[in-house]
Amino acid sequence: MTDVTVIGLGQMGARLAELMLNAGKSVTVWNRSAEKAAGVVAAGATLARDPASAIAAGGLTLICVYDYKAAQAILDQPGATSALAGRILVNLGTGGPEEAKAAEAFVLEHGGAYLDGAIQAAPSQMGQPDTPILVSGQSGVFDDAKAMLNILGGGLVYLGDAIDAAAYMDLATLSYVYGAFAGFLHGARIAEVKNISVKTFGTIVKDISPSFGAFFAHEGGVIASGDFAVTESPMRISVSAVERILRSSEALGLNSELPRLVNGWLGRAVAAGHSDEELAAVIKVLR
Ligand SMILES: NC(=O)c1ccc[n+]([C@@H]2O[C@H](COP(=O)([O-])OP(=O)(O)OC[C@H]3O[C@@H](n4cnc5c(N)ncnc54)[C@H](OP(=O)(O)O)[C@@H]3O)[C@@H](O)[C@H]2O)c1
Repeated sequence: MTDVTVIGLGQMGARLAELMLNAGKSVTVWNRSAEKAAGVVAAGATLARDPASAIAAGGLTLICVYDYKAAQAILDQPGATSALAGRILVNLGTGGPEEAKAAEAFVLEHGGAYLDGAIQAAPSQMGQPDTPILVSGQSGVFDDAKAMLNILGGGLVYLGDAIDAAAYMDLATLSYVYGAFAGFLHGARIAEVKNISVKTFGTIVKDISPSFGAFFAHEGGVIASGDFAVTESPMRISVSAVERILRSSEALGLNSELPRLVNGWLGRAVAAGHSDEELAAVIKVLR
């Protein structure tokens, strides 16, 4: 028996195994292409001959492969399902809510326990005090796995018993990322048509991101509380700001779909009488 098994030694899986070894844990590994295990084996990991013996070797197995189809293909190999009995499997690959549900049902059916995870960092960012890792699944199982998962990232967030919660939260945070990216591209267009450095624009975005992140955390608290009395930013300020972005973008001849969309939301929020509330009250329009 070793402390932990890591299945999948791609960019992320190899990093997970390395972090476990660095923390002084005994580690068993398995990867479809065995040659990728050379680095972690040299660092002290034990290479299992197949997924069944890998799972059998550790009380806790982390699986981090390309997708859930690949994970299932590994669990379908001879003996792997029976090895799951009495073991905890944590899938740290990226997948959707339905895949998380199906994976949990499969593991429970074979007598194991299951947690679903989503890593929100690159391999080089793993193992830091604030590295975000989302996890959901039965709380008793999380309690058993928590100390080991904390080695991979101090920003471990447990989202409750619903197995699909981590996958849904992954979708929520990615929605934020792509929404911000859309705004970034629109800003880059403003800069490039006016011959202002787009590179400098990127640097400014980086510098203002921590304070805007703190602002969004505040707005999340406002939405969760249901109290939209102004505490930071009255909606009326954003109404005129977005109107200005839209008019100036149109005057520059830019694609203005993005400011038109946000301007439309704000217009409906104002029409509904929310302009003297906190900006977060725009969510009432989306509801
Ligand atoms: N890298 C990142 O920045 C990052 C960040 C957050 C989350 N993630 C997630 O972590 C997971 C792994 O990503 P990665 O960066 O490690 O990818 P990767 O470097 O491309 O590695 C893919 C892994 O999946 C295995 N695999 C693929 N198809 C398989 C199959 N049919 N059967 C068995 N094994 C199979 C590969 O095995 P072989 O070596 O044999 O090909 C390899 O171990 C993904 O779900 C990804 O979304 C990655």
